[in-house]
Amino acid sequence: MYKQILFSLCAVAFLACNRTKTVSTEKAETGVCPQITNIQARCSTSLDGEWNYIVDIYGAGYLDYRRNPVSVKNSFFRDRGFYGHQKELIEYDFDAAPTLHVPGDWNTQKPELYYYEGTVWYRTLFHQKKKPGCRYFLYFGAVNYEAVVGLNGEVLGKHTGGYTPFNFEVTGKLADEKNSLVVLVDNARRFENVPTVNFDWWNYGGITRSVLLVETPETFIRDYCVQLKKDDPGIISGWIQLDGPDAEQQVCVDIPELEAGVQVRTDANGYARFEFAASPELWSPESPKLYSVAVSSESDRVEDRIGFRSIETRGTQVLLNGKPVILRGVSVHEESPFGAGGRATNKEDAVQTLQWAKDMNCNFVRLAHYPHNETMVRTAEEMGLMVWSEIPVYWTIDWKNPETYANAENQLVENITRDRNRANIVIWSVANETPVEAEGRLEFLSSLMGKARSLDDTRLVSAAMEKKALGGGRMTVNDPELVKIADLISFNQYVGWYDGDADKCDTITWEFDVEKPVFISEFGGGALAGRHGDRTERFTEEYLEYLYQKNVDMLSRIPGFAGCSPWILKDFRSPRRMLPGIQDDYNRKGLVSEKGVKKSAYFVMQDWYSSLKK
Ligand code: GCU
Repeated sequence: MYKQILFSLCAVAFLACNRTKTVSTEKAETGVCPQITNIQARCSTSLDGEWNYIVDIYGAGYLDYRRNPVSVKNSFFRDRGFYGHQKELIEYDFDAAPTLHVPGDWNTQKPELYYYEGTVWYRTLFHQKKKPGCRYFLYFGAVNYEAVVGLNGEVLGKHTGGYTPFNFEVTGKLADEKNSLVVLVDNARRFENVPTVNFDWWNYGGITRSVLLVETPETFIRDYCVQLKKDDPGIISGWIQLDGPDAEQQVCVDIPELEAGVQVRTDANGYARFEFAASPELWSPESPKLYSVAVSSESDRVEDRIGFRSIETRGTQVLLNGKPVILRGVSVHEESPFGAGGRATNKEDAVQTLQWAKDMNCNFVRLAHYPHNETMVRTAEEMGLMVWSEIPVYWTIDWKNPETYANAENQLVENITRDRNRANIVIWSVANETPVEAEGRLEFLSSLMGKARSLDDTRLVSAAMEKKALGGGRMTVNDPELVKIADLISFNQYVGWYDGDADKCDTITWEFDVEKPVFISEFGGGALAGRHGDRTERFTEEYLEYLYQKNVDMLSRIPGFAGCSPWILKDFRSPRRMLPGIQDDYNRKGLVSEKGVKKSAYFVMQDWYSSLKK
């Protein structure tokens, strides 16, 4: 907590020093400007590559020896090496510092940073030939967990949340020659954070996704929504948001393959809604059709690849394009399937991971427990995989803290803003396994669900809840209030692992008070790939295979069963998993090992899902 105050104060100090000479104790202005969407289609320069870094355990780069924030010019944001050698005493030098690759976590790049949690300074130098009349933005795909960003010795602002994009406008702040970009990253876990201090995955820190310098016209198309009109599949509707001084412009949406489109005029706020008749081939896992869509204004043009589909529930059924669908899913963490693991960052990571899901006959992936990188979502869309997208409101959040709620809501908004045009996202999830009895929790989650629906009323909204026993082998979901608000009865259950043995599955019957689709968002158990023994011996492949067989039988008996996403596709790192010789920092519930070996339980799911295919 103390460090958090200091970190925020430091950010305030840096920000305040740029505007006033007194340090405000108000919450730091973030300085982040509205998110630019479809970033891959923009004119940009990649700043990925080798960045110099300085590990700063005690905050010496921004705090004096009494731990008071220093001024920017006395902080590492000044980037001494950039200004050349000075007579004054300076005890750091980015030019002489080692490098980390961006994008990427520091934990798997440097053995000495494997467990590191705290602050690390990153610095890169870049040139940019500025064009008159253009605007410039620094775009970060994600930084875990908190980032204070400085350019040429000036602090631009701070972003909190480790899994969603953010950008700062730097028009007029770029130097003609070399630019020094300095980012102070802090991945320390804190009670008031989202997620909070305890979670079952590795706290990979760093600039974990790409960094871009984006060039736009003075007035540009910042954001848009193009999708099938809710409850009217013969209409494509949406809106366009311009950003810049020339707000009122003719704007067009054009889908050449459909010979359909529209021209409208934006209002004084640069905003326009539209709709037009069209009969697109609908996106589905079996036919993941994407259309080239051009959105243009009098001064800008962006192209995107967009699919069109509807998703809704009717009674206990989930309907995709009006037809019942069983969500044949699997849960996935954002971890590379190659080499040292660490944060997945690129197309190759996404294709390999999602191909394991496709080979298992999946049509759905739960991207747990936080928004994955945009490449993962877009690759899943191309490969015909529906997505459960989730923000990391995980376990014992600080429910009564308004800043914690604001952080969670901001991560939800940033997630929906980035991905609202991805047809394969069918569920926005606002939480995972949160304590139903915690004071303030229901209000917190129902507010998030309301926010999600206010931003996007075309998708399902839910959360991963938990189960409870009713006695006599009867079980139900343990969330009587939230399940009334959610679109799904979605919950995690571990009968056979945390709750009895696999044979217990035979004794369970499930019942629910509400008439909604039932989605089992987690089930499973652990096994070390290649460890064999009797099916009663935990962590053997035989135990896991039998557990899956028994769970499949049990799930098949659930009234209103609409799908599941067993936990989890691949073994993943977690500091909570310390059993020597078996876990060794890995959660072993993967159906595939971290080396890509498919455990025998994988084939139980592959066979079952094959039988569920219509
Ligand atoms: C929980 C939780 C997961 C966790 C899993 C486990 O259900 O949602 O994040 O990894 O159980 O215990 O392995």
